[in-house]
Amino acid sequence: MSKKIIIEPFKIKTVEPLHIATEQEREQYLKNAFYNPFLLKSSQVTFDFLTDSGTSAMSSAQWAALIDADESYAGASSWEHLWQSIHDLTGYPYILPTHQGRAAERILYGYIGKPGKVFISNTHFDTTRANIEFSGATAIDCLIPEGSQPSLIYPFKGNMDIEKLEEIILQHKAENIGAVILTVTNNSGGGQPVSMKNARDVKRICSKYSILYILDCCRIAENAYFIKHREKEFEHHSYFDIAKEMFSFADGCIMSAKKDGLVNIGGFLALRDKKLADACTNLLIITEGFSTYGGLSGRDMEALAVGLKEVFAPGYLTYRIKSTTYLGEKISKKGVPILLPVGGHAVYIDAKALYPHIPVHEYPGQALVCELYKKGGIRSVEIGSVMFGKYDEQGKLIPSKMELVRMAIPRRVYTQSHIDYVAEIFDEIIADRNNVKGYKIIEEPEFLRHFTAKFQQL
Ligand code: F0G
Repeated sequence: MSKKIIIEPFKIKTVEPLHIATEQEREQYLKNAFYNPFLLKSSQVTFDFLTDSGTSAMSSAQWAALIDADESYAGASSWEHLWQSIHDLTGYPYILPTHQGRAAERILYGYIGKPGKVFISNTHFDTTRANIEFSGATAIDCLIPEGSQPSLIYPFKGNMDIEKLEEIILQHKAENIGAVILTVTNNSGGGQPVSMKNARDVKRICSKYSILYILDCCRIAENAYFIKHREKEFEHHSYFDIAKEMFSFADGCIMSAKKDGLVNIGGFLALRDKKLADACTNLLIITEGFSTYGGLSGRDMEALAVGLKEVFAPGYLTYRIKSTTYLGEKISKKGVPILLPVGGHAVYIDAKALYPHIPVHEYPGQALVCELYKKGGIRSVEIGSVMFGKYDEQGKLIPSKMELVRMAIPRRVYTQSHIDYVAEIFDEIIADRNNVKGYKIIEEPEFLRHFTAKFQQL
């Protein structure tokens, strides 16, 4: 096997300056943002790892397609291109374009969800859960136990627990199950992949009880990479064929195209069943737009039609997964406790293990997020008790299970020297770990507090 360095499989045509502030300036910016990096301006950030969603760099082919777009209200040729691209990949006949993933979730889960209905997923992403619960239905996570042990090496930590899935179905009765949703890769569980065997097993259970089976497929190309390299049966398959096979088991899918669609906005819902698709199309027209554009412009649809093909290129996917792993393994070797093995789109750091002297009610994850910004201009996101913490009746914090920090890597945006620089910042993080103090919340909204909460350093 070649030991050659993995290079970025592109050259750069348009550049955007990086904003580099001094550490002193960053201290001030952070103070002004009340120690919440969501409140920073992007011009104050050097490396933005807040999300991999909508942050991809488009290719010259995508930009060229943009110019060619047809902005007709109905029946635009850009819609034909997008329809064909999605149909070739998924095989589903009914395709509904939306402005992003959660719009497709609202349409489908808002239609089939209601009080008494239960949805089961390996792990519901926040917006998925929110849309299900907003309909009055219940969302139950059903991840294999290996999936929630941060340091355990296991090839498919995103898998659904099949035995438990059947138990939950029997307990709630099949007719009350709204859908089974398989999220690939499992974002909330660390970007961990789901195996083809698992996707097939979910199909077997859904068929046995006649339950709707939906793929949340926003990172399905990244998932296909892991299947090819970890599941023997697929070592000679193309990434595209692996994804196609996974779609073949399900009854439909929801995609936030802002991830593996390689675009800055877009999404879709695709279904096999005409009756369900007709009902969803009515809702689409009421809230998103006519059925041949949803919430998208012609140029958005053109860019996505191209992106959905580009994302499966072997050179791209190898670079993508290897570069995420490169950052994770590099900082892991320095002694930074991370979630292992490294997933597809992000590196997750275990802040509780990094800062054992900071109790959970002083938010070790928030402390790390602030340190990364101060020391390196790196913006990351806390996924711990700031995001998921609740209060009991006495006002005492009920902490989250884990105190993680996510560094999500935008696609095709940063080079290896950027990533090397980011890894170097962790030398300072490690050297200074015992001096870092926790935070307290001084102001917070009622819902989704991590976006706007204000903090004070202790
Ligand atoms: N499903 C998954 C698995 C996601 O990761 C996301 C978004 C959505 C659905 C919703 O899609 O944002 O287009 O409405 N995840 C982003 C993230 C926000 O940062 O992980 P959307």
